[in-house]
Amino acid sequence: MSTTLVVFGATGDLARRKLVPALFTLHCKGRLPDDLRIIGFARSELTQATYCGSVWASMKDYADLICQEDAWSVFMQRIWFVQGDLSNREDVARLEAVLSDVERDETEANRLYYLSIGPALYEPAIASLSAAGMNREANGWRRIVIEKPFGSDRASAQELDGVLHAAFDESQIYRIDHYLGKETVQNLLAFRFANTMFEPVWSREYVEQVQVTVAEEVDIGARAGYYDGSGALRDMVQNHLLQLLTLVAMEPPSSMEAGALRNEKVGLLRAVRRWDSAGEAAQNAVAGQYEGYAATAGVATGSATPTYAALRLFIDTERWRGVPFYLRTGKAMAEKVTEIVVQFQKSAHTLFASEDGDEQANMLGLCLQPDEGVHLRFQVKVPDRSSVTAPYDMEFHYQATFPDQSIPEAYERLLEDALRGDASLFIRSDQIAESWAIVDPLLEAWSAHGASPRPYHRGSWGPAAADSLVAELGHRWLHTCSGHG
Ligand code: BG6
Repeated sequence: MSTTLVVFGATGDLARRKLVPALFTLHCKGRLPDDLRIIGFARSELTQATYCGSVWASMKDYADLICQEDAWSVFMQRIWFVQGDLSNREDVARLEAVLSDVERDETEANRLYYLSIGPALYEPAIASLSAAGMNREANGWRRIVIEKPFGSDRASAQELDGVLHAAFDESQIYRIDHYLGKETVQNLLAFRFANTMFEPVWSREYVEQVQVTVAEEVDIGARAGYYDGSGALRDMVQNHLLQLLTLVAMEPPSSMEAGALRNEKVGLLRAVRRWDSAGEAAQNAVAGQYEGYAATAGVATGSATPTYAALRLFIDTERWRGVPFYLRTGKAMAEKVTEIVVQFQKSAHTLFASEDGDEQANMLGLCLQPDEGVHLRFQVKVPDRSSVTAPYDMEFHYQATFPDQSIPEAYERLLEDALRGDASLFIRSDQIAESWAIVDPLLEAWSAHGASPRPYHRGSWGPAAADSLVAELGHRWLHTCSGHG
């Protein structure tokens, strides 16, 4: 028996920065199947030796080198390079011939195809794989991993699904959202469902509001070619933020098995209240663009692409009816922080005065990155004052609690799961469709003639209009995860 992982787009950014380093780390941890071979496939004219050399160079830059160069020589024996163009059927047929040849004496030969290529190439690539018969599970399983963006709206996602399903069964398809591979994101379910003290208060009876923030300090860098046609909604909200929303708000699954988990997630997405019109969508959201964005090389003149988005959503379930869920994300913001804050209702019966009236509510900060952990804000009595309280944070930090264990890279977990056939952290087709259905009216509203994003300063927390969005219901943006109030 053998397993082959074919990385299409093997010389690209994602492969160099994330995939191969994650594979090397898994190799060092002894987590790869013994018989795994890795084939890099790309258009560049490279020899086996030059490819391996370039991989090692990027490994030193990007891998958490938990083992050293001696392990590399063993790892290198797993790596092959095949030159070719994935949209060219002859090249793909040649790859199939190479694979069949190396697998010829094996009774079972499994294959994982990783599409680490631009979305424009997905359809021709799938057609080439299918034409070469590489989708057929004749002598082992065939799986395909596909990166985001999965479509640019609901219609295009469905079209892409049609192409995929013509060649692969849904059970063979692994759609990646790398946020789901993050340790702290997986901890969300453990936190909710392994601790009996939180689940009973996880509902509209006790929760005032929930906020999901994914702020980035970096701007779009050299990615204008991709980003200007995409923007914050497609790049971050439709995938990462809505996935975080499902994890914080979904009902408990009957098990952690992929089907059970994904059913609950899709159920939650379906319960997100839909906007009836583009106008209603626009009233519940704010688009922003950082200063200087439009002057970036590669960005269209007068571009209205949002680099910031804030949304107010409601979930029409018994558990969440009436509780606002605020989502915000942006580039060139004050800080890199991904956090979910659950603010509980203030006590209806006020016996104590607070030093800061606004701060009386309990808050739970689920800190996903960079300082991974959990903060729980509660009131303590101020010493030597008869009935005055002040807020205090009880904090858990992964690094401090597990100093000898580094937090694995998201791609380590996801690659390992795809090789093992565990699809629970991958996105099913219906989840993609539902999340586009949430985002589509807003895309429409924001692309309408005359709509332009609100400018915001680099290094700020986004446009002032986003503060008004939360203030409409008496709220303010919350930030608990790096010790700020
Ligand atoms: C990617 C987006 O999916 O996620 C990028 O395309 C973004 O624009 C990145 O920067 C953020 O990922 P992380 O893991 O750094 O939070």
